[in-house]
Amino acid sequence: MDASSTTADDALMRAELHRAAEHIRAGRPVAMPTETVYGLAADATDARAVAEVYKVKARPHFDPLIVHLADFEAIPRLVSHWPRAAERLARRFWPGPLTLVLPRTAAVPDIVTAGLDTVAIRMPDHPLALALIRLCGRPLAAPSANRFGRISPTTAAHVRQELGDRIAMVLDGGPCRAGIESTVIALTTEQPTLLRPG
Ligand code: TXA
Ligand code: MG
Repeated sequence: MDASSTTADDALMRAELHRAAEHIRAGRPVAMPTETVYGLAADATDARAVAEVYKVKARPHFDPLIVHLADFEAIPRLVSHWPRAAERLARRFWPGPLTLVLPRTAAVPDIVTAGLDTVAIRMPDHPLALALIRLCGRPLAAPSANRFGRISPTTAAHVRQELGDRIAMVLDGGPCRAGIESTVIALTTEQPTLLRPG
């Protein structure tokens, strides 16, 4: 590929990112790539937008969502206690396929956590996911972008097959690198607990 077409691709991707951020600001969920699987993203601070995610996926409201961050500065707004183990794990594995469950603040809408007093957070290792979070200026709640009970999609085409007629947009980042969902670890008690191997 020559330099001019690379520049054109970059410009196209920037336009796509802006379009995705517009939808998210307007409360419409957008599918975004991460290094693990595609997620269906909404503003994690907007309960109505998050309700739309559950609806699109036909996901039961008792199943909480992961909140995706682009930087460590976002943590204090979401998490009320950040133990040393969290700091160590996050510094070692973020950005990357590790989700940490921690006590939450009141800024996290109940619908994100299914009413639990904990919140799951992770920093994805994907340039488009990180760029979208930064562009929105909000943490993004995102479950895998499949209908409830089905396999997590790892390409934009899979997402379109699953949810195409129900969502505003799929941000196409090509195939996901890992293809397996993140590892989920709870740090709400003295002993860390593995909730989901990734
Ligand atoms: O790799 C991934 O984790 C992908 C990408 C999009 O980030 N996301 C993903 O989300 O797999 P989802 O919603 O399909 O799975 C999230 C898992 C569920 O098993 C959920 O129960 C658990 O995380 N979870 C979320 N919040 C929790 C909480 N507060 N306490 C315990 N488990 C939680
Ligand atoms: Mg899932």
